[in-house]
Amino acid sequence: MGSIVILTGAGISAESGLGTFRDVGGLWSQHRIEDVATPEGFARDPALVHGFYNARRANAAAAAPNAAHLALARLEAKYAGQVTIVTQNVDALHEAARSRNVLHMHGTLAGALCAACEHRWTAPPEMAPGHPCPACAAPAARPDVVWFGEMPYHMEEIWDLLRAADVFAAIGTSGQVYPAAAFVQDAARAGAHTVEINLEPSAVVSDFAETRFGRASDEVPRWVEEVLRG
Ligand code: APR
Repeated sequence: MGSIVILTGAGISAESGLGTFRDVGGLWSQHRIEDVATPEGFARDPALVHGFYNARRANAAAAAPNAAHLALARLEAKYAGQVTIVTQNVDALHEAARSRNVLHMHGTLAGALCAACEHRWTAPPEMAPGHPCPACAAPAARPDVVWFGEMPYHMEEIWDLLRAADVFAAIGTSGQVYPAAAFVQDAARAGAHTVEINLEPSAVVSDFAETRFGRASDEVPRWVEEVLRG
């Protein structure tokens, strides 16, 4: 059986109550990206940035996976080939739904990183400026989230997966942030069937061979059952 690579974005967690970024009222209408999601913003005002991620960490901790997360976990459990989720999301809802093969290309809210020695550990619920690194004691702890201008994680592994994919699906992402928005082209060039599942057409909808519009909690379970029926 072929391999399936699934890219997820904030839209898959929307029905779990977590805000998206670019929908009306989204996170980027409440905060300036340059203030809360760049290394420069963190250097300028670490308290503002920690406060932003403390609030998102609390929201994510209170959220439950929805039918779309659960359907992807069922696909991984029942599908004879390899299923890999590459998520842009920093919440842990895929893991809470029992998906195991998950790559967080933008990091995770659960992770903390030392800006001085690059030590990583599990983040406490709240982080504050000057939080000491447990390894080198430098007051340089930050969320282990990939900010704009930084290199996403797991890229070599992701490009290898896309080159080998038989099916590539993008779920709940607006297709406005690279390199994730170009994954569909990488997969199509390698001969994969490509499908977009989204509430509305993304910025790269024309790159997909198949499109399914609707809420993730409706469309993803429907797509998964079709894939499992073969
Ligand atoms: N079901 C399916 N899709 C939905 C739903 C839903 N219930 N609600 C919203 N969407 C779709 C929207 O139509 C939109 O296309 O989810 C997409 C969310 O887009 P963004 O808010 O741009 O989120 P995302 O694509 O994940 O952003 C990518 O940008 O800011 C950075 O690092 C951040 O990982 C993020 C990246």
